[in-house]
Amino acid sequence: MKASFISTSLLIFLLLQLPNHVTVSWRLTVPEPKPTPWPEQFHALLYMNLTSTHLQLSDLWYDWPKGRNVNIFQKQLGTVLYDIEWNNGTSFYYTLGADTECQITDFGVGIPRPDFLDGARYLGRVVTDGFLCDLWEKVDFIWYYEDVVTKRPVRWDFYDGISSHVMTWEVGAVLPDSVVQAPAYCFTESVDGKTSST
Ligand SMILES: *[C@@H]1O[C@H](CO)[C@@H](O)[C@H](O)[C@H]1NC(C)=O
Ligand SMILES: *[C@@H]1O[C@H](CO)[C@@H](O)[C@H](O)[C@H]1NC(C)=O
Repeated sequence: MKASFISTSLLIFLLLQLPNHVTVSWRLTVPEPKPTPWPEQFHALLYMNLTSTHLQLSDLWYDWPKGRNVNIFQKQLGTVLYDIEWNNGTSFYYTLGADTECQITDFGVGIPRPDFLDGARYLGRVVTDGFLCDLWEKVDFIWYYEDVVTKRPVRWDFYDGISSHVMTWEVGAVLPDSVVQAPAYCFTESVDGKTSST
């Protein structure tokens, strides 16, 4: 008698637990998706919405073997700003043409590694920009949306509210070195007070 009472309550207990139990076993058998590492070289055209809600396009040329990450920003109805980041921590920001400016900054950190999203926290599946995506978050710094089918990034948002939407994604594309040569006025002493080096 006592034995059957125990097994009945055990059964009820198990039935009550069923939804959780199913969830747990699903989690155990279906591993959470992991973000696809970035290709070692690619070109992407990004549509960016800044925190000011101003818009810009960016030609992003990521090149891990050459140790550089290039953003060429076209501000909406505004200037073109070159942002050349090197793996040794030095970044050059400059404009070309009539109203030139250059700033050299040492961030002390290199460009993102291809696997920089390793260890990101999986947040599930969402539709963004019309694409079904897996979404991850890393250290409250980046929210990264990757197309479930093609594994291409669709969008990423930074903690400060800047969102980037991937319009083209060309794996293996390489920017010619001549484009990333910082202009001479980046290396001359400031004449107009705009050139600075830190
Ligand atoms: C830019 O982002 C802001 C804030 O999220 C949003 O209100 C606005 O509609 C966005 N603009 C465009 C053109 O996407
Ligand atoms: C980092 O590398 C770039 C490109 O080769 C170079 O122009 C820059 O001077 C280097 N910075 C330092 C601190 O060595």
